[in-house]
Amino acid sequence: MTVVPLRILRGECLEVLDQTLLPGEERHLALRDVAALCEAVASLRVRGAPLLGIVGAAGMAIAAERGDASDGALRAAYERIAATRPTAVELASIARLGLEAALAAGQSPAMRRAALWAFVEGHLARRMAEDLDLATRGASLLPQGCAVLTHCNTGALATGGIGTALGVIQLAWQQGKLERCYATETRPLLQGARLTMWELAKLGIPGTLLPDTAAASLIASGRVQAVITGADRIARNGDTANKVGTYGLAAVAARHGVPFYIAAPVTTIDPSCPDGAAIPIEFRPPEEVGGFGGVRWSPPHVAAYNPAFDVTPAGLISAIVTEQGVLRPPYASAIAALTGQR
Ligand code: MRU
Repeated sequence: MTVVPLRILRGECLEVLDQTLLPGEERHLALRDVAALCEAVASLRVRGAPLLGIVGAAGMAIAAERGDASDGALRAAYERIAATRPTAVELASIARLGLEAALAAGQSPAMRRAALWAFVEGHLARRMAEDLDLATRGASLLPQGCAVLTHCNTGALATGGIGTALGVIQLAWQQGKLERCYATETRPLLQGARLTMWELAKLGIPGTLLPDTAAASLIASGRVQAVITGADRIARNGDTANKVGTYGLAAVAARHGVPFYIAAPVTTIDPSCPDGAAIPIEFRPPEEVGGFGGVRWSPPHVAAYNPAFDVTPAGLISAIVTEQGVLRPPYASAIAALTGQR
């Protein structure tokens, strides 16, 4: 069954599936102004780097629809949307492309709105096509009869297409290559337990959920032939930010000779970022660590270290799979060749 995380209602709003309620409830929200859109992004009702790109651009269309569509108003909307979550590069970079499309459409508010909605629709269509290309390239790396480990959620819920890492997993399953997908629970917000396991069940793919703390012994046991995750931002040298815990998986995979793959569209590469140290990491409230869904298990007001992402050094990554090709080390030259930057 298909998972549809959002619908673009041209001239009206962006409708999103509220991911904070999954898997218990499938409720859709109509985002009709920039404030509602930013709240949905900040609270992870919509999430996943490529999907945030679509949401960011849709936010620009909604701003033009509700506001005055002047240069100043559009630039202010862009700044507000881009600041909502700092790590996933596509939120800001795709919103900026939307802004540029609007400014290039001339001075007429109607023309600017039309250009923005057309940009968002085009971007979603491209995303869907590129996910399929990425999945084809990624599935070709996996051996027959394999089991893989993934982290966080990288499926349709995270991209609007078939997903990045989970798209690879889905295609490998359809090709009869994959026997099982292991998914970490992904504390503290449980994207693996709540979202990936939900998507795997819908796709009919055998899935096994594990506590994040069991991933090292799973890899050491030889039960998985690859670890594959998505990415939120890839620096020019291949250092990659993804959901916190990814670095640990890559380090353990390297220790045991298991390939560690990143699956991400080319838009996740940030040519302005020289290395991982330059990637802004989002820190989230301490309350997220000490409880979930209204249940609290830590004493109130504890201090907590809660980065939403970590950076995996390029040296631990066996390959970066994009829709345009599979990049291998050394990544600085592979990325420069792909993006045309030196
Ligand atoms: O905080 P989230 O749920 O937005 O984090 C998502 C991830 O880390 C994903 O792995 C990443 O965005 C890639 S999504 C295809």
